[in-house]
Amino acid sequence: MRLLVTGGAGYIGSHTVVELLEGGHDVVVVDDLSNSSEVALDRVAGLTGRRPEFRRVDLVDNDVLASVFDDGPYDCVLHFAGLKAVGESVEQPLRYFRTNLIGTLNLLTEMDRAGCRDLIFSSSATVYGAPQALPLIETHPTGGTTSPYGRTKHMIEEICYDVAATGAGWRIALLRYFNPVGAHLSGRIGEDPKGIPNNLVPYVLQVAVGRRPHVDVFGNDYPTSDGTGVRDYLHVVDLAKGHLAAMENIDRFEGARAVNLGTGSGNSVLDVINGFAEASGRRIAYEFADRRPGDVPELYADPSLAAELLGWKAERGLAEICADGWAWQSANPNGYASD
Ligand code: NAD
Ligand code: WQD
Repeated sequence: MRLLVTGGAGYIGSHTVVELLEGGHDVVVVDDLSNSSEVALDRVAGLTGRRPEFRRVDLVDNDVLASVFDDGPYDCVLHFAGLKAVGESVEQPLRYFRTNLIGTLNLLTEMDRAGCRDLIFSSSATVYGAPQALPLIETHPTGGTTSPYGRTKHMIEEICYDVAATGAGWRIALLRYFNPVGAHLSGRIGEDPKGIPNNLVPYVLQVAVGRRPHVDVFGNDYPTSDGTGVRDYLHVVDLAKGHLAAMENIDRFEGARAVNLGTGSGNSVLDVINGFAEASGRRIAYEFADRRPGDVPELYADPSLAAELLGWKAERGLAEICADGWAWQSANPNGYASD
């Protein structure tokens, strides 16, 4: 199949492009490189022996996007492009709404014009807001989101349901990721955040590699096993394979349908720090700090719908996440700038 991948130079996109190329598909990547590096695509080419076609495109620019579709057709679109930092979205809500919403509206418009109506969208567990019950199941109410970023994901889901309801033959997979972490098994591609990492795993890795002195553990008085926050950490290669499974089973998404992609079990902040200490053989200094506003104590998925619809389940646990994440970070202490 010929596939259009928006945001394909980014963290999850680049890992998915590897799986798509290895699956024999042709891939066109569009990305504005606002949060990524073209080096990631060079590395993808090195790993797979095939170079994805690349076009530097800002999805907010509808004319340029239209020209990408003029060079179609595409059998399916995988839509990763967007801004994703929760804290930054509180500071810059207009930028988040503009990029995530207008970018997606432009994409849906061009897909409709081109008659390409199969879409796989990067949604997020953030659409559930604070969980009323665990594990989180797809029927849990959505919309109780606490940040502009989260609201963009929820709004895009709602837009997709409305577009699908036109009966024009849309098949939209709304994949609700839990906490994607880790790196490709080769250590050649991985997460390379710009500036200070917002998320736990890249922060821990930068401490392990000596770029930062210690990790602040946000809260040690939660009602969890060791008092620190619990999340469902999902290996990025498992997540990438989930996209392939969604594409292969797109007929099960007639209209639009949401599916969780998570492991089904949780790990605490201290589990993560200890896992990376073991994988790296290094001491990872940490200090307990105040809770981070907006955080919930515990979050993990019920992944049974993904197993039933897609035949997909996560195969890698925290030990593989830490080993592969460390292999990436130790070989690339400054991310893609190490080249
Ligand atoms: P990322 O920032 O590494 O990748 C996003 C890519 O989109 C980047 O390469 C960036 O340059 C590109 N981009 C941003 N704005 C663009 C625009 N206007 N036009 C074209 N390209 C643009 O992030 P990621 O972690 O790979 O996330 C991919 C998707 O998954 C995002 O939509 C994110 O919201 C979603 N998601 C991520 C997580 C996570 O924890 N990483 C969890 C749930 C959902
Ligand atoms: C994990 C745990 C923190 C950093 C975010 C988004 C979510 C989704 C995934 C996109 C929590 C603790 C963190 C640190 C810490 N993204 N922590 N010290 O908040 O579960 O999810 O990424 O859709 O929408 O909100 O991930 O990695 O930031 O935090 O103690 O320096 O680590 O309190 O318990 P989170 P995270």
